[in-house]
Amino acid sequence: MSHPTHLRSQFPNGFRFGAATSSYQIEGHQFGGAGRTHWDDFAAGPGNVVRAEHGGQACDHYNRYEEDLDLVKDAGFDAYRFSVSWARVLPEGRGTPNPEGLDFYDRLTDAMLERGLDPWVTLYHWELPSALADLGGWRNRDIAMWLADFAEVIMGRIGDRMHAIAPINEPWCVAWLSHYLGLHAPGLRDIRATARAMHHVCLAHGTTTQALRAMGLSNLGGVFNLEWSHPADDTDDAREAAALYDDIYNNFFLGGVFKGAYPERIVQGLGAHLPGGWENDFDTITTPLDWCGLNYYTCSRIAPAPETPWPHLRAEEGPLPKTQMGWEIYPDGLKQFLLRTAQEFTGDLPLFITENGMANADVVTNGTVDDQARISFVQAYLNAVQDAIAEGVPVNGYFLWSLMDNFEWAVGYEKRFGAVHVDFETQKRTPKASWHWLKFGLSE
Ligand code: FCB
Repeated sequence: MSHPTHLRSQFPNGFRFGAATSSYQIEGHQFGGAGRTHWDDFAAGPGNVVRAEHGGQACDHYNRYEEDLDLVKDAGFDAYRFSVSWARVLPEGRGTPNPEGLDFYDRLTDAMLERGLDPWVTLYHWELPSALADLGGWRNRDIAMWLADFAEVIMGRIGDRMHAIAPINEPWCVAWLSHYLGLHAPGLRDIRATARAMHHVCLAHGTTTQALRAMGLSNLGGVFNLEWSHPADDTDDAREAAALYDDIYNNFFLGGVFKGAYPERIVQGLGAHLPGGWENDFDTITTPLDWCGLNYYTCSRIAPAPETPWPHLRAEEGPLPKTQMGWEIYPDGLKQFLLRTAQEFTGDLPLFITENGMANADVVTNGTVDDQARISFVQAYLNAVQDAIAEGVPVNGYFLWSLMDNFEWAVGYEKRFGAVHVDFETQKRTPKASWHWLKFGLSE
């Protein structure tokens, strides 16, 4: 048993604790006149998602959002990080808005404010409208304009009440995971598509940030996912392989947005595939931000794989204890990333952990869920955050992924990340031991 810990008193005054979710993973995309997305299409393809599950009903949050926000509030969180579904607001991706979609986000926003929760919105958490996927999606440079236009429509309705806004969740996942590894929608394994998506995601981040500023909105940031990259062994080749992986995963996007440059190794590797004129877009890409969000889950062990195409890398299994996802638990990586991000990219800019958490095979027994593993996990990562703060890094908040179990993309509903258990047959919510632990730890 973990002992109750008073978390709030371990952190500086004003440090914010939040819970995070995303639209497609919880809302139920079949409700409220939303348009089709590339995740609906991807899930309908053979072998893409476990049991061909999709976000049609998900957590039925579209209908149960009041109950869900009560759970955010009652756990003692200060903030709620959510995302808006592009296709719910603009079913065709452009053109005529869906009034039901706008009304939903309006109600949701007011429901947060009524509970004293700070709304942290992400505009794109992966469910691209299918109509825009038809036009090439992230391969098409016009996406930089489409996303900025969507931002104007949705923020025209709720922007006045947002505490913080980020255009895009996790550029690496949008680009590399989805266009090179093919593991997320649109499921491509295409180097040219990848290079284009990598650049366009940076460009769209910039154009959208500019559009939000032009609307007079403030507290704008970016949300980057980082993965600590260890060499698989003690050889120079493995060290080089790990450094290349680090550049692709971590330094490409932070470098583009905060330094106006992509790592040299990547420019060499991807050069032939990057869209013409990419060098001229950095004025837009580096549009100043007010904060930087890091999503951190795990580390990897990278070895050279000369027999495979560029970047000639493969990942090996690591020795540390793992979560239900098979991800190694490595809190020191979070501390190192906080130090390194501040040192190399963001300086004094406020940093936030915008996602951290674990999947666990949680079951309800006699009405309770004893997820001690999650309590230890969160405590260990919060210790890492404290260590970084002690070394002078301006970390201002931590968001748990996730409020409740939800549609975990390609691995469907069986990987449970929530502090609240969801029975997907009955939609019953059961707060887990970790939720009760947080409630104690976050009490004033
Ligand atoms: C992140 C995503 C989030 C969730 C967690 C587990 O990469 O932002 O939607 O899937 O991983």
